[in-house]
Amino acid sequence: MTTDSQSFTRRIALADPTATMALGTMIATRLQVGDTVALKGDLGAGKTTLARAILRTLAVTENVPSPTFTLVQTYETPGLPIRHYDLYRVENPREIDELGLDEALEEGAVLIEWPEHAGNHIPDDALQITLITTGAQSRLADITGPARWASIFREDAHAR
Ligand SMILES: Nc1ncnc2c1ncn2[C@@H]1O[C@H](COP(=O)(O)OP(=O)(O)OP(=O)(O)O)[C@@H](O)[C@H]1O
Ligand SMILES: [Mg+2]
Repeated sequence: MTTDSQSFTRRIALADPTATMALGTMIATRLQVGDTVALKGDLGAGKTTLARAILRTLAVTENVPSPTFTLVQTYETPGLPIRHYDLYRVENPREIDELGLDEALEEGAVLIEWPEHAGNHIPDDALQITLITTGAQSRLADITGPARWASIFREDAHAR
Protein backbone atom coordinates (compact mmCIF):
# COMPACT_ATOMS: atom_id res chain seq x y z
CA MET A 1 0.00 0.00 0.00
CA THR A 2 1.40 3.38 -0.95
CA THR A 3 0.85 6.11 1.61
CA ASP A 4 1.04 9.82 0.91
CA SER A 5 4.33 10.13 2.77
CA GLN A 6 5.90 7.62 0.41
CA SER A 7 4.73 9.18 -2.81
CA PHE A 8 5.73 12.17 -4.88
CA THR A 9 4.33 14.32 -7.64
CA ARG A 10 6.16 16.19 -10.39
CA ARG A 11 5.09 18.26 -13.39
CA ILE A 12 7.54 18.24 -16.28
CA ALA A 13 7.21 20.34 -19.43
CA LEU A 14 7.95 18.42 -22.63
CA ALA A 15 8.71 20.83 -25.44
CA ASP A 16 8.62 18.27 -28.24
CA PRO A 17 8.60 14.50 -28.93
CA THR A 18 12.36 14.35 -28.30
CA ALA A 19 11.76 15.53 -24.73
CA THR A 20 9.07 12.90 -24.30
CA MET A 21 11.48 10.25 -25.53
CA ALA A 22 14.13 11.48 -23.08
CA LEU A 23 11.61 11.03 -20.28
CA GLY A 24 11.04 7.46 -21.49
CA THR A 25 14.77 6.80 -21.40
CA MET A 26 14.93 7.96 -17.77
CA ILE A 27 12.06 5.67 -16.79
CA ALA A 28 13.58 2.70 -18.62
CA THR A 29 16.81 2.90 -16.64
CA ARG A 30 14.89 2.30 -13.38
CA LEU A 31 12.40 -0.30 -14.55
CA GLN A 32 12.42 -3.48 -12.46
CA VAL A 33 10.47 -6.72 -12.28
CA GLY A 34 7.04 -5.99 -10.78
CA ASP A 35 6.88 -2.37 -11.96
CA THR A 36 3.77 -0.88 -13.53
CA VAL A 37 3.93 2.32 -15.58
CA ALA A 38 0.40 3.67 -16.07
CA LEU A 39 0.18 6.03 -19.05
CA LYS A 40 -2.81 8.37 -19.00
CA GLY A 41 -3.90 11.15 -21.32
CA ASP A 42 -6.26 11.86 -24.18
CA LEU A 43 -6.06 10.30 -27.65
CA GLY A 44 -2.82 11.43 -29.27
CA ALA A 45 -1.32 12.76 -26.05
CA GLY A 46 1.83 10.69 -26.55
CA LYS A 47 1.37 7.55 -24.43
CA THR A 48 2.56 5.17 -27.15
CA THR A 49 5.41 7.54 -28.02
CA LEU A 50 6.57 7.35 -24.39
CA ALA A 51 6.13 3.57 -24.21
CA ARG A 52 8.13 3.17 -27.43
CA ALA A 53 10.97 5.25 -26.00
CA ILE A 54 11.06 3.02 -22.90
CA LEU A 55 11.20 -0.11 -25.08
CA ARG A 56 13.82 1.32 -27.43
CA THR A 57 16.02 2.22 -24.46
CA LEU A 58 15.73 -1.40 -23.30
CA ALA A 59 17.14 -2.48 -26.67
CA VAL A 60 13.90 -3.50 -28.36
CA THR A 61 14.68 -3.07 -32.04
CA GLU A 62 11.61 -4.72 -33.53
CA ASN A 63 8.59 -2.75 -34.62
CA VAL A 64 6.56 -1.47 -31.63
CA PRO A 65 2.97 -1.15 -32.84
CA SER A 66 0.25 0.46 -30.76
CA PRO A 67 -1.53 -2.46 -29.03
CA THR A 68 -4.92 -0.84 -29.58
CA PHE A 69 -6.34 -3.95 -31.26
CA THR A 70 -4.19 -6.73 -29.80
CA LEU A 71 -4.60 -5.18 -26.29
CA VAL A 72 -1.14 -6.45 -25.32
CA GLN A 73 2.27 -6.91 -26.92
CA THR A 74 5.13 -8.73 -25.21
CA TYR A 75 8.80 -7.83 -25.65
CA GLU A 76 11.89 -9.66 -24.47
CA THR A 77 14.64 -7.33 -23.34
CA PRO A 78 18.11 -8.21 -22.00
CA GLY A 79 17.02 -7.36 -18.44
CA LEU A 80 13.37 -8.34 -18.17
CA PRO A 81 10.29 -9.02 -20.28
CA ILE A 82 7.99 -6.05 -20.82
CA ARG A 83 4.30 -6.19 -21.65
CA HIS A 84 2.74 -3.15 -23.30
CA TYR A 85 -1.02 -2.91 -22.84
CA ASP A 86 -3.55 -0.57 -24.43
CA LEU A 87 -6.88 -0.97 -22.61
CA TYR A 88 -8.81 1.60 -24.64
CA ARG A 89 -11.08 -1.07 -26.09
CA VAL A 90 -11.66 -2.84 -22.76
CA GLU A 91 -15.20 -2.08 -21.71
CA ASN A 92 -15.48 -4.27 -18.65
CA PRO A 93 -12.60 -4.47 -16.14
CA ARG A 94 -13.33 -8.20 -15.81
CA GLU A 95 -11.76 -8.62 -19.26
CA ILE A 96 -8.45 -7.74 -17.61
CA ASP A 97 -8.37 -11.14 -15.90
CA GLU A 98 -7.74 -12.70 -19.30
CA LEU A 99 -4.80 -10.45 -20.13
CA GLY A 100 -2.30 -11.99 -17.73
CA LEU A 101 -1.43 -8.85 -15.81
CA ASP A 102 -0.52 -10.64 -12.57
CA GLU A 103 1.75 -13.10 -14.39
CA ALA A 104 3.33 -10.27 -16.35
CA LEU A 105 4.23 -8.49 -13.11
CA GLU A 106 5.74 -11.65 -11.62
CA GLU A 107 8.01 -12.04 -14.62
CA GLY A 108 8.71 -8.47 -15.67
CA ALA A 109 7.34 -4.96 -15.97
CA VAL A 110 4.22 -3.59 -17.64
CA LEU A 111 3.37 -0.38 -19.48
CA ILE A 112 -0.38 0.31 -19.55
CA GLU A 113 -2.16 2.86 -21.75
CA TRP A 114 -5.71 3.71 -20.70
CA PRO A 115 -5.33 2.26 -17.16
CA GLU A 116 -8.66 3.95 -16.31
CA HIS A 117 -10.33 1.06 -18.17
CA ALA A 118 -8.86 -1.50 -15.77
CA GLY A 119 -10.91 -0.64 -12.68
CA ASN A 120 -8.94 -1.63 -9.60
CA HIS A 121 -6.61 -3.97 -11.45
CA ILE A 122 -3.81 -1.39 -11.57
CA PRO A 123 -1.36 -1.91 -8.68
CA ASP A 124 -1.27 0.81 -6.01
CA ASP A 125 2.46 1.23 -6.50
CA ALA A 126 2.22 2.09 -10.22
CA LEU A 127 4.23 4.99 -11.57
CA GLN A 128 1.48 7.14 -13.07
CA ILE A 129 2.17 9.54 -15.90
CA THR A 130 -0.56 11.79 -17.27
CA LEU A 131 0.29 13.51 -20.54
CA ILE A 132 -1.55 16.76 -21.27
CA THR A 133 -1.52 18.27 -24.74
CA THR A 134 -0.60 21.96 -24.59
CA GLY A 135 0.35 22.54 -28.25
CA ALA A 136 1.18 20.79 -31.52
CA GLN A 137 4.57 19.70 -30.15
CA SER A 138 4.31 20.44 -26.45
CA ARG A 139 3.00 18.34 -23.59
CA LEU A 140 2.94 18.43 -19.81
CA ALA A 141 3.73 15.26 -17.89
CA ASP A 142 2.14 14.99 -14.46
CA ILE A 143 3.96 12.22 -12.66
CA THR A 144 3.08 10.53 -9.40
CA GLY A 145 4.16 7.31 -7.75
CA PRO A 146 6.20 5.64 -5.04
CA ALA A 147 9.09 7.61 -3.59
CA ARG A 148 11.74 5.35 -5.09
CA TRP A 149 11.02 6.93 -8.47
CA ALA A 150 11.28 10.51 -7.25
CA SER A 151 15.02 10.96 -7.67
CA ILE A 152 15.02 10.47 -11.43
CA PHE A 153 12.51 13.29 -11.84
CA ARG A 154 14.07 15.59 -9.24
CA GLU A 155 15.80 17.83 -11.68
CA ASP A 156 13.51 19.22 -14.33
CA ALA A 157 15.98 18.04 -16.93
CA HIS A 158 13.38 17.58 -19.62
CA ALA A 159 11.82 21.01 -19.40
CA ARG A 160 12.86 23.50 -22.00
N1 LIG B 1 5.86 16.34 -27.05
C1 LIG B 1 5.26 15.28 -27.64
N2 LIG B 1 5.29 14.08 -27.03
C2 LIG B 1 4.71 13.00 -27.59
N3 LIG B 1 4.09 13.00 -28.78
C3 LIG B 1 4.04 14.16 -29.45
C4 LIG B 1 4.61 15.35 -28.90
N4 LIG B 1 4.41 16.36 -29.79
C5 LIG B 1 3.74 15.83 -30.81
N5 LIG B 1 3.52 14.52 -30.63
C6 LIG B 1 2.81 13.66 -31.58
O1 LIG B 1 1.59 13.29 -31.00
C7 LIG B 1 1.28 11.95 -31.42
C8 LIG B 1 1.15 11.08 -30.19
O2 LIG B 1 0.66 9.84 -30.61
P1 LIG B 1 0.65 8.57 -29.67
O3 LIG B 1 0.23 7.43 -30.50
O4 LIG B 1 1.92 8.47 -28.91
O5 LIG B 1 -0.54 9.00 -28.65
P2 LIG B 1 -1.33 8.09 -27.62
O6 LIG B 1 -1.45 8.91 -26.39
O7 LIG B 1 -0.69 6.77 -27.50
O8 LIG B 1 -2.77 7.97 -28.30
P3 LIG B 1 -3.88 6.79 -28.18
O9 LIG B 1 -4.74 7.13 -26.99
O10 LIG B 1 -4.63 6.88 -29.46
O11 LIG B 1 -3.17 5.48 -28.00
C9 LIG B 1 2.40 11.48 -32.32
O12 LIG B 1 2.03 11.72 -33.66
C10 LIG B 1 3.55 12.36 -31.91
O13 LIG B 1 4.48 12.58 -32.94
MG1 LIG C 1 -1.40 4.85 -27.77
